[in-house]
Amino acid sequence: MSFFTHQITRGLSSSAVRNVVIKHVTIIGGGQMGAGIAQVAASTGHSVVLVDTSEDILQKAAKGIEGSLKRVVKKKFADKPEAGAEFIQKVMQNVSTSTDAAAVVQGTDLVLEAIVENLKVKQGLFAGLDKVAPEHTIFASNTSSLPITDIASSTSRLDRFGGLHFFNPVPMMRLVEVVATSATSQESFDSLLNFSKALGKTPVSCKDTPGFIVNRLLVPYMMEAIRLHERGHGSKEDIDIAMKLGAGYPMGPFELLDYVGLDTAKFIIDGWCAMDPGNPLFGQSPMLNKLVAEGKFGKKTGEGFYKYK
Ligand SMILES: NC(=O)c1ccc[n+]([C@@H]2O[C@H](COP(=O)([O-])OP(=O)(O)OC[C@H]3O[C@@H](n4cnc5c(N)ncnc54)[C@H](O)[C@@H]3O)[C@@H](O)[C@H]2O)c1
Repeated sequence: MSFFTHQITRGLSSSAVRNVVIKHVTIIGGGQMGAGIAQVAASTGHSVVLVDTSEDILQKAAKGIEGSLKRVVKKKFADKPEAGAEFIQKVMQNVSTSTDAAAVVQGTDLVLEAIVENLKVKQGLFAGLDKVAPEHTIFASNTSSLPITDIASSTSRLDRFGGLHFFNPVPMMRLVEVVATSATSQESFDSLLNFSKALGKTPVSCKDTPGFIVNRLLVPYMMEAIRLHERGHGSKEDIDIAMKLGAGYPMGPFELLDYVGLDTAKFIIDGWCAMDPGNPLFGQSPMLNKLVAEGKFGKKTGEGFYKYK
């Protein structure tokens, strides 16, 4: 598309939808990331509907949010337990749950997806919601590694589609990568940027390139730590200690891999390897593949590189 045509397309598509002030958010996926985003959005006065595939998962997510809020309150309201309890009650009132995304997107300003890292599944979800969500609703994905452009291609709202990439644990991590594709309108991008700020986060602008900024640097680093261990050049414990004490990182690469989820890490590296097979930074790891094949995904399953109670 020529520069001129591109500008016209942007102008036309964005004229229909001016800056949307995001107040009502539908978050799809109540796992680690979705529940964390829901907590932060509800804590900052947004109305949130959290969607997942079963009531059991949603109950677990709601419990997790409440538990996390209790930890926040312990610190923030140390001298005022009643005010703390009131805060939790108020935040929880901002969160409702559903197993039917299509039924709850009416009236939502933003659909933010944090489901399994699988392109076809994400495309299927958004294609369905595109038909029922209001015209002004912006769609965003929290994907760690998939091109936002590819996810958005399943919808007819390319100008109202972007990336909002949060970090784990969401309540603690201050960064949000706000991703614009070549079709994302300036208005939609600004709405996503302002929403990130309203959550109390610091946004950075990213292009729709693999891994955006943080993961493009972090994933090759973690993979190289595994390869270093595979070559027998250091134990995982020593590598973790070395990077914490020598580089000042809060977690070593193996601790971080277990925290992120080895399944997620493998998914990312598999995708990048398929995209650019000759790139040594994107090479496979037999050790990672074996752990994932054994269902050892890290902290969330009780075992990864380390064991957890
Ligand atoms: N874990 C991280 O550190 C991290 C960081 C940033 C971004 N991400 C990205 O966030 C997304 C979610 O990651 P996570 O770690 O929270 O995963 P998770 O496995 O903890 O949670 C995913 C949730 O999505 C639900 N789900 C799956 N398909 C669904 C569907 N069609 N409709 C509704 N719910 C559905 C699952 O039941 C599960 O509860 C992924 O795209 C991942 O790449 C993860």
